[in-house]
Amino acid sequence: MKKPRLDCIVSLIRDGVRIADVGCDHAYITTEALTLGKATFSVASDIRPGPLSKARDNIEAAGLSGKAKLLLADGLDGIGEYAPDDIIIAGMGGELIADIIDRAPFLQNEKIHLILQPMTSQDKLRAYLCSSGYRIDTEAVPAERTHLYQVISAYYTGRPFALTAAELAVGQVSVKPEEYRDNFRALIKHTAAKFEKIAGSKTSDNAKELELVKELNEMLKETYDENG
Ligand SMILES: C[S@@+](CC[C@H](N)C(=O)[O-])C[C@H]1O[C@@H](n2cnc3c(N)ncnc32)[C@H](O)[C@@H]1O
Repeated sequence: MKKPRLDCIVSLIRDGVRIADVGCDHAYITTEALTLGKATFSVASDIRPGPLSKARDNIEAAGLSGKAKLLLADGLDGIGEYAPDDIIIAGMGGELIADIIDRAPFLQNEKIHLILQPMTSQDKLRAYLCSSGYRIDTEAVPAERTHLYQVISAYYTGRPFALTAAELAVGQVSVKPEEYRDNFRALIKHTAAKFEKIAGSKTSDNAKELELVKELNEMLKETYDENG
């Protein structure tokens, strides 16, 4: 079975590190990362006991119990003591991910690597990261069936920076690896079409959406030499 989203997330983990798999659910990220040897240890957490027991079953079935700690926890509560190098927060809304990061000051450490995969509100997560001094060093756009996922890799620097409205919506061109070129183009087009539709459905005050559509079309032209 093809699993581009999961493969992409695991590929971004640095080699031989300790990971935290926050909101692990079935713990597929943990089992894959430990099996491939990308991670030497995982603290896999979830806020609900049901998913955590699924995670325990899957980790045991893969013979990985000695390398994983299962934790019933809200966000990053209690995770710091396991000293993770790479922290994965995937498959949740962007605002929830931002809130989880915001409640964990131990992340203000340049050595900790964040791998984030927001399902929604990607713009709000990017806005939080750049205003809070987390530098986005790379962004992947894996496609699975008809869905384009956005995976953000970031490190704390303590230096806030600004992004344009288009960069908040789809990410910066400069941090998209070449292999995602076609998917990124599709993401820009899809996002521009979405906001064009929103602007069209409003009877007034659609200036913000129209400006974003204009910026996205400019990004498309500059990056791919084409208009939306
Ligand atoms: C859709 S699953 C994603 C599973 C996995 N991370 C992945 O990307 O394949 C989201 C999981 O996050 C958990 N979750 C939601 N809010 C959470 C929080 N505040 N802290 C920890 N886990 C949370 C849910 O219980 C659920 O199991």
